[in-house]
Amino acid sequence: MSTHAQPTATPNGRKPVTLHSLRAQHARGEKVTMLTAYDATFARLADEAGLDTLLVGDSLGMLLQGHSSTIPVALEEMVYHTRCTARGLQGGAAWLVADLPFGSYQQGVAQAMASATALMQAGAQMVKLEGGGWTAEVVRFLVDRGVPVCAHLGLTPQSVHALGGYRVQGRDAQGAAVLRRHAKELADAGAAMLVLELMPSSVAAAVQTDNPGMITIGIGAGPDTAGQVLVLHDMLGVTRGKLPRFVRNFMDEGGSIEDALRRYVAAVKEGTFPDPVAHAYAAA
Ligand code: KIV
Repeated sequence: MSTHAQPTATPNGRKPVTLHSLRAQHARGEKVTMLTAYDATFARLADEAGLDTLLVGDSLGMLLQGHSSTIPVALEEMVYHTRCTARGLQGGAAWLVADLPFGSYQQGVAQAMASATALMQAGAQMVKLEGGGWTAEVVRFLVDRGVPVCAHLGLTPQSVHALGGYRVQGRDAQGAAVLRRHAKELADAGAAMLVLELMPSSVAAAVQTDNPGMITIGIGAGPDTAGQVLVLHDMLGVTRGKLPRFVRNFMDEGGSIEDALRRYVAAVKEGTFPDPVAHAYAAA
């Protein structure tokens, strides 16, 4: 096989998702679906259900490891789960994003590149990092060196202690302006994708309008983003404790896990999830 050969179709008939195809999908107004996955079995199920992208989220620190935040997650642990998830996608189509965990990119561009290298060599096709401002320099450095980057603004869980808890961000005019400025800087630095977490729908919509080419992926950010992400355990209804209002349990309608995954994909694509009121937040 030539080094430039691309698989044309997967066993389940889908073409492999690429950054190019994701941009084209966004340009024609088709919603982008994302779900977290941490292992081979769920990666395969999600891929078969038609998910466009999977995220090996550092939320695994809470869901798989039992920590109370994402902060204790180590890079080696993210590498391990990325490797497992990527194996589940062999012969599949979904695009794989992996989180750079807390402490693996904050020291500067060299550390970020080394950490991104570890995730890409484990099978990630894109890395995700949290925050605005100083991160633009890191994003530019990675993108210039061939690493596709997904940024993450709003409620950034690695900063939970600095933010004073899991609170809606950008509710007042000043906070909204900061989020919009950071999003613009990240877009200018070359981030191709941007997770917008826990913010008023109007702010997420403005970020998308400000940066039309950016593939914004909302979670608790209303219906006007280019795509949506949920945490696997939340949408399967197996997370214990009080869940944020933006979560919908796709197992509620019965059926199998496979049915729930397909319902999630369909609801995002059709625009019936998230609900603009029940799953969303308003500005102050
Ligand atoms: O770690 C994670 O699961 C995430 C999603 C909530 C976007 O970052």
